[in-house]
Amino acid sequence: MNAPADRLGAAPPVGGDTTSTCTIDVRLDGAAWATHLAEATADGLRSIPPWTPPVWFYDDVGSVLFDRITRLDEYYPTRAERSILARHADEIAGITVATTLAELGSGTSEKTTLLLDALTAGGSLERVVPFDVSEAVLRSAAEEIAGRYPGVAVHAVVGDFHEHLGALPTGGRTLLAFLGSTIGNLDPAERSVFLRNVCAALSSDDWFLLGTDLVKDRSRLLAAYDDPAGVTAAFNLNALAVMNRELGADFDIPAWSHRAVFDEEHRRIEMHVVAGADQMVRLASLDLEVHVHDGGWIRTEISTKFTSEQVAEELDAAGLQTVEVWTDDDGDFLVTLARRR
Ligand code: SAH
Ligand code: TRP
Repeated sequence: MNAPADRLGAAPPVGGDTTSTCTIDVRLDGAAWATHLAEATADGLRSIPPWTPPVWFYDDVGSVLFDRITRLDEYYPTRAERSILARHADEIAGITVATTLAELGSGTSEKTTLLLDALTAGGSLERVVPFDVSEAVLRSAAEEIAGRYPGVAVHAVVGDFHEHLGALPTGGRTLLAFLGSTIGNLDPAERSVFLRNVCAALSSDDWFLLGTDLVKDRSRLLAAYDDPAGVTAAFNLNALAVMNRELGADFDIPAWSHRAVFDEEHRRIEMHVVAGADQMVRLASLDLEVHVHDGGWIRTEISTKFTSEQVAEELDAAGLQTVEVWTDDDGDFLVTLARRR
């Protein structure tokens, strides 16, 4: 672990006398990470109901498919969150006066540029820390940020936000963003541990900015996770292709289909892959065989839908105090600014 940061070729600054530095800090140790994921997947597939970890979605193909999901008419969360940030980024920059913007699960960092623009205009920004488990997406996002904000240091972290929050650089005032309602992909116990870890990683001058999707009409929720063009289906089924490649599995992908259901009790969307025939799936690296019946399914993701009270309560239970909340015009999405209590 803790491999030393290596240097990326930073994009040359355009038309200024400032230079931008771009480093990448790789905290995932290939072999240990592979073992961890193998164990988590084996545990999940032996559970009732069976599940697999969401990390299998985000290979190169999956990252491109996710980017397409965020542009779908049916997928309102990205647009709603972007509209909140577009309207309130200046206010967020004014309150936080952050010198570092760090972002967990940053992906392409596309919405993040709204915050970066505001913090740059406010004159406080010195460093950006995109943090993601998917190295390829992270590298290209880091290079793009370095090219766009000359004079700002880019310190990218390849890490697991359940394990490596200690890799976040300290000093100055950090605004730690966790956008896209990725927190909704964690179950309640994981959220509680994660939020406590976030609180522990913040100093008293730092801020936490959290994006959460809100409870709404069930038909809109289902459409957002089962679009007619089949992009979400392709994204979901791609996780099986990734497991075939990474775990020596033999999922017969055409025999599986995508399904989204809304669980009223837990107020969450569940993504399933559903078997269209009785079959045996072998996962060679896990030394595991799973027998699946026709109609049997595996849960590949949960996407929790929150109320604003619930978000404030969960933050509070982790030692974080809500300072401001913003929603979009339709009340679909919530962005919360919090700090240590
Ligand atoms: N923040 C972006 C992307 C959300 S998709 C947006 O709002 O659109 C979720 C991102 O989280 C992906 O880029 C994925 O690679 C990353 N991710 C998922 N699990 C992770 C983990 N355990 N640690 C770090 N990043 C993770
Ligand atoms: N954080 C996103 C969400 O919960 C992730 C996501 C969007 C997703 N669409 C998906 C995950 C489809 C799995 C399948 O909305």
